[in-house]
Amino acid sequence: MNEYDEAYSSLLNESKGFYVFQETRSDSGDHPANFLDFECQFAAEQINAFEPKNILDIGSYRHFLLGLMAHYQVTTIDVRDRKSSVKNEKVITCDAISLDLPDNSFDTVLSMCTLEHIGLGRYGDRIDFDGDKKAIKEMIRVLKPDGRLIFTTTIHNAPPAIAFNAHRIYDYEMIKDYCSGLKCVAEEFYSHQAGNFCSIEQITTDPKWWDVYCGCWRKV
Ligand SMILES: C[S@@+](CC[C@H](N)C(=O)[O-])C[C@H]1O[C@@H](n2cnc3c(N)ncnc32)[C@H](O)[C@@H]1O
Repeated sequence: MNEYDEAYSSLLNESKGFYVFQETRSDSGDHPANFLDFECQFAAEQINAFEPKNILDIGSYRHFLLGLMAHYQVTTIDVRDRKSSVKNEKVITCDAISLDLPDNSFDTVLSMCTLEHIGLGRYGDRIDFDGDKKAIKEMIRVLKPDGRLIFTTTIHNAPPAIAFNAHRIYDYEMIKDYCSGLKCVAEEFYSHQAGNFCSIEQITTDPKWWDVYCGCWRKV
């Protein structure tokens, strides 16, 4: 009898008030982590260092945002409508290529894993192949001077690519060009192969695959 069978039969004899049935799982070992963990870690560190008063988010991971709203006031933008009853959230449903928000109005603009999708129609947004450029201009426009643009996106060491209609994949030059006029505060590159942050030289050279860019930029 193995350890599981032994434990199961003793549990049947002493069920502690629970209805007991079999459903075997084994999730031991190191805690799993993938690129999402690293993106969220980067964003959390930058937000924590800057301590913004208000945050505009565009398309980031919902679970990260919900945690963020335990402390921060967040205006969230997404092209797909969603309901929220979280007190600290103001929901705006719109396309990120044009924001009906005043210039210089947010301390931080956060956008994880979204830029590369904008204007490709995957999420029901209007097709506009310049959508990503228009959206990043809008993010910068609504950011206050000295505010932080924190974003993550796809990157590779190969010519920029569009895997239509899933996403774009940028090269580092294109990302820096999109942020021209801003000052870089921090950046990290995540390699799927390494399972960790890495140097820019270590990111993939595969023309059809991507690693992750994480950047925090200051509006001057
Ligand atoms: C990869 S998902 C990010 C994570 C996702 N929000 C979640 O909760 O897991 C990209 C997000 O960007 C949003 N999005 C895509 N294109 C958009 C656009 N043009 N304007 C605003 N939001 C857009 C999508 O609806 C989607 O929620």
